[in-house]
Amino acid sequence: MIRIAAVGDVHFDRQSHNRLGQHFLGLEDKADFFLLAGDLTQTGHPEEMRVLAEDLTKCPIPIIAVLGNHDYHSDQVNQVTGILNEIGVKVLDGSAIHLEVQGQSVGIAGTKGFGGGFIGACGADFGEPEMKAFMIHSRINARKLESVIKEMKTDYKIALLHYSPTAQTLAGEKKEIYPFLGCYHLAEAIDYGRADICFHGHAHAGIERGETPGGCPVRNVAQPVIRHAFNIYTLER
Ligand SMILES: [Fe+2]
Ligand SMILES: [Fe+2]
Repeated sequence: MIRIAAVGDVHFDRQSHNRLGQHFLGLEDKADFFLLAGDLTQTGHPEEMRVLAEDLTKCPIPIIAVLGNHDYHSDQVNQVTGILNEIGVKVLDGSAIHLEVQGQSVGIAGTKGFGGGFIGACGADFGEPEMKAFMIHSRINARKLESVIKEMKTDYKIALLHYSPTAQTLAGEKKEIYPFLGCYHLAEAIDYGRADICFHGHAHAGIERGETPGGCPVRNVAQPVIRHAFNIYTLER
């Protein structure tokens, strides 16, 4: 059995000291690794990421993260990524990591993802260059995720995102903003790549559980949704 601790949208600021760190005691007995599903900071400022990094050094299990849109806000993605890398956190961006857990191999493919919307209510790469750029960015991001998932030959395949691959976990959000909360291209990547489970954040007013059209379980682990420091999920054959 694979045990996964996961949370997104912790939105650390300069005052968030020990908000996560206080929950890490004994975590190694409950989970094998810890997934962070983006929006780790409030504005993507390095000072905010340093406060989070201080907390994460107390985590006794491997940490794998993707960034969220908030982490991009200050245009210091390399700096905030570097702060996480320095303490051993693996930050995925159209890339994957393989872990050995209880004698089984686990592949985690991660990307921030992007918006675009869902079938019947989505954008298209048509018209103005800005609209084309928006949808092409979304598709390229998802296609990269798909090829990374397909390349994994592990016993388990996990997709870690910030944006949602399905409208199901957005229930509770205003329908008008769904195209800014996720994109169907991400679900295609997960289904064509045959991932076992997907974690995402970003939809603070959404719900925890959904699935892709292909039946892959999707869990929205945004902290305002799960209302805990993190949740623990299990995967078993
Ligand atoms: Fe968020
Ligand atoms: Fe977000």
